[in-house]
Amino acid sequence: MKRTNTKSNRRPAGLQVRPFRLEDYAAVAELWQTSGLAVDSREQVRRRLKRDRGLFLVAEVKGKLVGVAMGGWDGRRASLWRLAVSPDFQRRGVAQALMCELESRLQALGAGGAFLLVWHENRPALKLYRKCGYEPHPGVLFMYKEFPAPQPAAKKRSQGCDQ
Ligand SMILES: CC(C)(COP(=O)(O)OP(=O)(O)OC[C@H]1O[C@@H](n2cnc3c(N)ncnc32)[C@H](O)[C@@H]1OP(=O)(O)O)[C@@H](O)C(=O)NCCC(=O)NCCS
Repeated sequence: MKRTNTKSNRRPAGLQVRPFRLEDYAAVAELWQTSGLAVDSREQVRRRLKRDRGLFLVAEVKGKLVGVAMGGWDGRRASLWRLAVSPDFQRRGVAQALMCELESRLQALGAGGAFLLVWHENRPALKLYRKCGYEPHPGVLFMYKEFPAPQPAAKKRSQGCDQ
């Protein structure tokens, strides 16, 4: 028997994906926080907008912000970051809509593909990304270095960093 009334892929009526505006910041920060993602400060967001304006998207339903995603483009490689959808609107295709819009914007800039990072244990995100066509890249190890916090100029000199 054909299943009806599945929650899957029921796009909320009036769903709109549009570029982020600074007045969205509070709602976006709350969404990142409740989703367990790092919350960029307003200043970090401003810097991001300077660099990748048009690749920071939100999803809205009847004036309510329900999703967010960021893209990055350095002229050679494209990346996807900080995707989150409000729990009340999950499993309704909002993330897919954000991903599709980001991908077409990145393609328009000349990107031939995109990468993203996801925790191994984040099964919902892993399933979503696989559904969108992303595959693990077994040959690549993610490496990272934390830079020391910037220090006042005087201290820097005493450590021989200002030669
Ligand atoms: C991951 C997340 C963004 C998915 O958002 P969403 O709007 O619910 O995703 P979609 O409705 O577009 O789902 C598309 C497909 O992804 C998969 N998927 C999404 N959520 C899933 C879940 N909880 N369990 C299993 N599969 C899931 C399914 O294949 C789904 O298609 P289907 O509903 O037809 O089965 C959302 O769960 C979220 O905000 N999580 C917290 C933040 C986070 O982890 N972000 C990713 C950081 S890397």
